[in-house]
Amino acid sequence: MRKQIVAGNWKMNKTFSEAETLITEIADALDDVDLKDAEVILCPPAIYLEMATDVAFESNFKVGAQNIYPEDSGAFTGEISPLMLKELNVTYCIIGHSERRKYFHETNEFLQRKVDALLKHHIRPIFCCGEVLPEREANQHFEVVKKQVQESLFHLSMESFLDVVIAYEPVWAIGTGVTATKEQAQEMHAYIRGLIAEKYDGSTAVETTILYGGSCNGKNARELFAQPDVDGGLIGGASLKPDEFLQIATSF
Ligand code: PGA
Repeated sequence: MRKQIVAGNWKMNKTFSEAETLITEIADALDDVDLKDAEVILCPPAIYLEMATDVAFESNFKVGAQNIYPEDSGAFTGEISPLMLKELNVTYCIIGHSERRKYFHETNEFLQRKVDALLKHHIRPIFCCGEVLPEREANQHFEVVKKQVQESLFHLSMESFLDVVIAYEPVWAIGTGVTATKEQAQEMHAYIRGLIAEKYDGSTAVETTILYGGSCNGKNARELFAQPDVDGGLIGGASLKPDEFLQIATSF
Protein backbone atom coordinates (compact mmCIF):
# COMPACT_ATOMS: atom_id res chain seq x y z
CA MET A 1 0.00 0.00 0.00
CA ARG A 2 1.19 3.53 -0.72
CA LYS A 3 3.02 5.58 1.88
CA GLN A 4 1.39 8.37 3.82
CA ILE A 5 3.75 11.32 4.06
CA VAL A 6 3.97 14.69 5.74
CA ALA A 7 6.80 16.77 4.28
CA GLY A 8 7.91 20.15 5.59
CA ASN A 9 9.07 22.62 2.96
CA TRP A 10 11.00 25.22 4.89
CA LYS A 11 11.65 27.33 1.80
CA MET A 12 14.31 30.06 2.38
CA ASN A 13 13.83 30.36 6.13
CA LYS A 14 15.92 30.02 9.32
CA THR A 15 19.54 30.75 10.14
CA PHE A 16 21.80 27.79 10.85
CA SER A 17 21.33 27.95 14.62
CA GLU A 18 17.57 28.37 14.28
CA ALA A 19 17.47 25.45 11.85
CA GLU A 20 19.44 23.26 14.25
CA THR A 21 17.05 24.12 17.09
CA LEU A 22 13.97 23.45 14.98
CA ILE A 23 15.24 20.13 13.66
CA THR A 24 16.22 18.98 17.13
CA GLU A 25 12.84 20.01 18.53
CA ILE A 26 11.00 18.12 15.81
CA ALA A 27 13.27 15.07 16.17
CA ASP A 28 12.70 14.97 19.95
CA ALA A 29 8.95 15.39 19.59
CA LEU A 30 8.81 12.61 16.99
CA ASP A 31 10.19 10.21 19.59
CA ASP A 32 7.01 10.64 21.62
CA VAL A 33 4.30 10.39 18.99
CA ASP A 34 2.67 7.57 17.09
CA LEU A 35 3.03 8.30 13.40
CA LYS A 36 1.24 5.05 12.57
CA ASP A 37 2.80 4.21 9.20
CA ALA A 38 3.29 7.79 8.07
CA GLU A 39 6.69 9.12 7.07
CA VAL A 40 7.92 12.58 8.04
CA ILE A 41 10.28 14.41 5.70
CA LEU A 42 12.05 17.68 6.45
CA CYS A 43 13.23 19.81 3.53
CA PRO A 44 15.47 22.58 4.92
CA PRO A 45 17.61 24.92 2.79
CA ALA A 46 20.49 23.12 1.05
CA ILE A 47 23.25 24.35 3.35
CA TYR A 48 21.53 22.67 6.32
CA LEU A 49 21.08 19.28 4.67
CA GLU A 50 24.22 17.74 6.13
CA MET A 51 23.25 18.80 9.65
CA ALA A 52 19.72 17.53 9.05
CA THR A 53 20.84 14.12 7.80
CA ASP A 54 23.14 13.80 10.83
CA VAL A 55 20.16 14.30 13.15
CA ALA A 56 17.91 12.12 10.98
CA PHE A 57 20.37 9.23 11.28
CA GLU A 58 19.18 8.65 14.84
CA SER A 59 15.64 9.95 14.45
CA ASN A 60 12.33 9.12 12.88
CA PHE A 61 12.37 11.40 9.85
CA LYS A 62 13.86 11.56 6.38
CA VAL A 63 15.53 14.51 4.71
CA GLY A 64 14.63 16.12 1.41
CA ALA A 65 16.22 18.90 -0.62
CA GLN A 66 14.22 21.72 -2.17
CA ASN A 67 15.93 21.76 -5.55
CA ILE A 68 18.78 20.39 -7.68
CA TYR A 69 20.42 21.13 -11.00
CA PRO A 70 20.01 18.21 -13.43
CA GLU A 71 23.69 17.34 -13.96
CA ASP A 72 26.08 15.36 -11.76
CA SER A 73 28.82 18.02 -11.90
CA GLY A 74 30.18 20.79 -14.09
CA ALA A 75 30.31 24.52 -14.70
CA PHE A 76 26.99 25.50 -13.14
CA THR A 77 28.01 28.13 -10.61
CA GLY A 78 25.88 28.14 -7.50
CA GLU A 79 24.02 24.93 -8.24
CA ILE A 80 23.84 21.62 -6.35
CA SER A 81 23.77 18.19 -7.97
CA PRO A 82 21.85 15.04 -7.06
CA LEU A 83 25.18 13.22 -6.79
CA MET A 84 26.16 15.58 -3.97
CA LEU A 85 22.84 14.99 -2.21
CA LYS A 86 23.19 11.24 -2.54
CA GLU A 87 26.39 11.19 -0.54
CA LEU A 88 24.67 13.17 2.23
CA ASN A 89 21.91 10.53 2.46
CA VAL A 90 19.24 12.89 1.23
CA THR A 91 16.36 10.67 0.15
CA TYR A 92 13.80 13.07 -1.37
CA CYS A 93 13.85 16.29 -3.37
CA ILE A 94 11.03 18.73 -4.10
CA ILE A 95 10.78 19.43 -7.81
CA GLY A 96 8.63 21.89 -9.72
CA HIS A 97 7.39 23.93 -6.79
CA SER A 98 5.26 26.81 -8.08
CA GLU A 99 7.76 29.32 -6.67
CA ARG A 100 10.48 27.80 -8.83
CA ARG A 101 8.19 27.72 -11.84
CA LYS A 102 7.30 31.38 -11.27
CA TYR A 103 10.51 33.06 -10.12
CA PHE A 104 13.04 30.81 -11.89
CA HIS A 105 10.99 30.10 -15.01
CA GLU A 106 11.26 26.34 -14.73
CA THR A 107 9.37 24.60 -17.53
CA ASN A 108 7.81 21.15 -17.64
CA GLU A 109 10.64 20.05 -19.98
CA PHE A 110 13.36 21.27 -17.61
CA LEU A 111 11.59 19.55 -14.71
CA GLN A 112 11.62 16.30 -16.68
CA ARG A 113 15.43 16.52 -16.70
CA LYS A 114 15.47 17.12 -12.95
CA VAL A 115 13.24 14.11 -12.32
CA ASP A 116 15.56 11.92 -14.41
CA ALA A 117 18.68 13.28 -12.72
CA LEU A 118 17.26 12.46 -9.28
CA LEU A 119 16.02 9.00 -10.16
CA LYS A 120 19.43 8.14 -11.59
CA HIS A 121 20.73 8.48 -8.01
CA HIS A 122 17.68 6.90 -6.38
CA ILE A 123 16.54 10.15 -4.80
CA ARG A 124 12.74 10.29 -4.82
CA PRO A 125 11.27 13.40 -6.47
CA ILE A 126 8.33 15.10 -4.75
CA PHE A 127 6.86 16.51 -7.92
CA CYS A 128 4.65 19.57 -7.43
CA CYS A 129 1.83 20.46 -9.77
CA GLY A 130 -1.10 22.83 -9.55
CA GLU A 131 -3.01 25.61 -11.24
CA VAL A 132 -3.02 29.36 -10.63
CA LEU A 133 -6.27 31.12 -9.72
CA PRO A 134 -7.22 32.40 -13.21
CA GLU A 135 -6.81 28.85 -14.53
CA ARG A 136 -9.17 27.49 -11.88
CA GLU A 137 -11.65 30.30 -12.53
CA ALA A 138 -11.55 29.45 -16.22
CA ASN A 139 -12.14 25.79 -15.34
CA GLN A 140 -8.77 24.81 -16.84
CA HIS A 141 -7.31 23.31 -13.67
CA PHE A 142 -7.59 19.68 -14.77
CA GLU A 143 -5.95 20.41 -18.14
CA VAL A 144 -3.12 22.39 -16.53
CA VAL A 145 -2.29 19.66 -14.01
CA LYS A 146 -2.57 16.97 -16.69
CA LYS A 147 -0.03 18.78 -18.88
CA GLN A 148 2.39 19.25 -15.96
CA VAL A 149 2.21 15.58 -15.00
CA GLN A 150 2.33 14.30 -18.57
CA GLU A 151 5.21 16.49 -19.73
CA SER A 152 7.45 16.00 -16.71
CA LEU A 153 6.66 12.45 -15.56
CA PHE A 154 4.97 10.29 -18.16
CA HIS A 155 8.17 9.54 -20.07
CA LEU A 156 9.18 7.36 -17.10
CA SER A 157 9.01 3.60 -17.08
CA MET A 158 6.46 2.14 -14.68
CA GLU A 159 9.25 1.05 -12.35
CA SER A 160 10.78 4.53 -12.21
CA PHE A 161 7.40 6.19 -11.86
CA LEU A 162 6.79 4.23 -8.67
CA ASP A 163 9.62 6.22 -7.03
CA VAL A 164 7.84 9.54 -7.62
CA VAL A 165 5.69 11.27 -5.01
CA ILE A 166 3.22 13.80 -6.40
CA ALA A 167 2.15 16.94 -4.53
CA TYR A 168 -0.94 18.74 -5.76
CA GLU A 169 -0.54 22.35 -4.72
CA PRO A 170 -3.09 24.80 -6.09
CA VAL A 171 -1.01 27.95 -6.38
CA TRP A 172 -3.84 30.14 -5.05
CA ALA A 173 -3.69 28.18 -1.78
CA ILE A 174 0.07 28.45 -1.18
CA GLY A 175 0.94 30.79 1.65
CA THR A 176 -2.42 32.54 1.34
CA GLY A 177 -4.37 30.99 4.21
CA VAL A 178 -6.96 29.92 1.64
CA THR A 179 -6.99 26.12 1.64
CA ALA A 180 -8.60 24.05 -1.08
CA THR A 181 -11.75 22.46 0.30
CA LYS A 182 -11.55 18.77 1.03
CA GLU A 183 -13.82 18.21 -1.97
CA GLN A 184 -11.57 20.22 -4.31
CA ALA A 185 -8.49 18.35 -3.07
CA GLN A 186 -10.13 14.94 -3.35
CA GLU A 187 -11.45 15.70 -6.84
CA MET A 188 -8.02 16.65 -8.20
CA HIS A 189 -6.21 13.81 -6.44
CA ALA A 190 -8.66 11.29 -7.85
CA TYR A 191 -8.20 12.87 -11.28
CA ILE A 192 -4.39 12.57 -11.06
CA ARG A 193 -4.70 8.96 -9.90
CA GLY A 194 -6.94 8.33 -12.90
CA LEU A 195 -4.29 9.74 -15.25
CA ILE A 196 -1.70 7.40 -13.74
CA ALA A 197 -4.02 4.40 -14.12
CA GLU A 198 -4.58 5.33 -17.76
CA LYS A 199 -0.89 5.79 -18.53
CA TYR A 200 0.48 2.88 -16.46
CA ASP A 201 -2.01 0.63 -14.71
CA GLY A 202 -4.40 0.47 -11.78
CA SER A 203 -1.91 -0.89 -9.29
CA THR A 204 0.67 1.81 -10.13
CA ALA A 205 -2.06 4.39 -9.51
CA VAL A 206 -2.98 2.79 -6.19
CA GLU A 207 0.69 2.68 -5.13
CA THR A 208 1.41 6.37 -5.89
CA THR A 209 1.48 8.77 -2.95
CA ILE A 210 -0.31 12.03 -3.77
CA LEU A 211 0.13 14.84 -1.23
CA TYR A 212 -1.90 18.00 -0.86
CA GLY A 213 -0.16 21.34 -0.33
CA GLY A 214 -1.39 24.87 0.17
CA SER A 215 -2.23 26.41 3.58
CA CYS A 216 -2.50 22.98 5.16
CA ASN A 217 -2.40 23.47 8.94
CA GLY A 218 -3.11 21.87 12.28
CA LYS A 219 -6.80 22.61 11.95
CA ASN A 220 -7.55 21.36 8.45
CA ALA A 221 -5.05 18.51 8.03
CA ARG A 222 -7.29 15.83 9.50
CA GLU A 223 -10.22 16.40 7.18
CA LEU A 224 -7.95 16.73 4.14
CA PHE A 225 -6.00 13.54 4.97
CA ALA A 226 -9.27 11.68 5.54
CA GLN A 227 -10.07 11.96 1.82
CA PRO A 228 -9.53 8.64 0.09
CA ASP A 229 -7.01 9.97 -2.45
CA VAL A 230 -5.15 12.43 -0.19
CA ASP A 231 -2.09 10.66 1.22
CA GLY A 232 -0.68 13.46 3.34
CA GLY A 233 0.66 16.95 2.85
CA LEU A 234 3.48 19.19 1.69
CA ILE A 235 3.55 21.82 4.38
CA GLY A 236 5.10 25.27 4.05
CA GLY A 237 4.44 27.87 6.75
CA ALA A 238 3.14 25.44 9.36
CA SER A 239 6.26 23.25 9.05
CA LEU A 240 8.26 26.00 10.78
CA LYS A 241 6.16 25.63 13.95
CA PRO A 242 7.11 22.36 15.66
CA ASP A 243 3.87 21.87 17.61
CA GLU A 244 1.66 22.49 14.64
CA PHE A 245 3.85 20.41 12.31
CA LEU A 246 3.65 17.50 14.74
CA GLN A 247 -0.10 17.95 14.96
CA ILE A 248 -0.29 17.72 11.14
CA ALA A 249 2.02 14.69 11.07
CA THR A 250 -0.30 12.86 13.45
CA SER A 251 -3.50 13.74 11.57
CA PHE A 252 -3.95 10.41 9.78
P1 PGA B 1 2.04 26.74 2.63
O1 PGA B 1 3.08 26.28 1.49
O2 PGA B 1 1.75 25.52 3.47
O3 PGA B 1 2.75 27.82 3.38
O4 PGA B 1 0.82 27.24 1.92
C1 PGA B 1 3.00 25.03 0.91
C2 PGA B 1 4.11 24.86 -0.10
O5 PGA B 1 4.51 25.87 -0.70
O6 PGA B 1 4.62 23.76 -0.31
